[in-house]
Amino acid sequence: MERTRILGTGSAVPSRILRNAELEKLVDTSDEWITSRTGISERRVCSAGEDTATLAEQAALKALEAAALDPMDLDLILVATITPAMPFPATACLLQDGLGARRAAALDVSAACSGFIYGLAVADNFIRTGMYRTVLLVGAETLSLLTDWSDRNTCVLFGDGAGAVVLQGQRGGRGVLSTHLYSDGSQWGLLMAPGGGSRHPISSPEVLAQRLNTIKMPNGNEVFRTAVRAMEDACISALKHNHLEISDVDVVVPHQANARIIQALTYRLSLPPEKVIANIARHGNTSAASVPLALDEAVRTGKVHDGNLVLLVAFGGGLTWGSAAIRW
Ligand code: UT7
Repeated sequence: MERTRILGTGSAVPSRILRNAELEKLVDTSDEWITSRTGISERRVCSAGEDTATLAEQAALKALEAAALDPMDLDLILVATITPAMPFPATACLLQDGLGARRAAALDVSAACSGFIYGLAVADNFIRTGMYRTVLLVGAETLSLLTDWSDRNTCVLFGDGAGAVVLQGQRGGRGVLSTHLYSDGSQWGLLMAPGGGSRHPISSPEVLAQRLNTIKMPNGNEVFRTAVRAMEDACISALKHNHLEISDVDVVVPHQANARIIQALTYRLSLPPEKVIANIARHGNTSAASVPLALDEAVRTGKVHDGNLVLLVAFGGGLTWGSAAIRW
């Protein structure tokens, strides 16, 4: 049976580091509050010349190198993002151009912080139906450009970055075992950037006056509680589907939104903390980039081994959430 194998991973972040101390000068906050309530110490933010497509390209090149494949081997390019480099064309098309991957089809996937898991499900289904064999999936975001730097409730949380995987259909037991996707559109107002699209165009004076083109999270605490429950449920669905126990799991790579969310998930699933990957202290919440960025760091620091059972899980705006179980 053909499964979707991850042949290589890569990641990239902007060079500029924004530390909590700098945010103390922008809004009424403190390093102590940010660290204790979120676990974030610093995040990366883009400078001139950097954007979602340039970050995606850097991450993709590393993943291709790790997979020992050439851009011309790619049949499909998927970019999971809510901060595309342009309204159109898709960032995946800009990435295709940058890589010279002329054979590939290219499209973006929009599922906020769950974007990478959604993209993995899309890729896995294309591969298992036989339509495509080799797929590049990148989660890439520049949330710093959607950030309201006067809103202390949100501006301390987010960062920029990209993570990539090269996927290929191969025979054998290794690869993606399952993906589970969920959405609750009735809760879209919990986490959004409501302006800048066709409902509230960027050209309207109210959008700019009320900064409607920036991230709004009117009830962060509700998002927090929902995220813990939803990610727990998504992990349990993945285990049940594959007839596995929590003790079978070797590595969990959760979305990095808040260290306390990761701790709560770890506790509720009775996971040993050393099996749970957390890099939020250095990156903040990078939305669709967070899972592949953490996965790449885990792979490159020797935390993921052949044959391991790896669980990916994410939650984000939409609301959207989901999980993926992978035999590495
Ligand atoms: O990636 C998608 C998913 N995103 C998330 O999952 C984010 C989920 N939410 C969270 O991570 C947390 O809810 C936050 C970090 C956003 C907030 O933490 P909290 O423990 O839920 O705090 P809270 O919203 O209950 O607010 C506590 C207090 C408030 O002050 P009052 O009203 O009690 O006086 C806030 O105004 O903390 C205040 N506060 C801050 N104080 C200093 C909020 N942001 C800050 C800040 N610095 N940056």
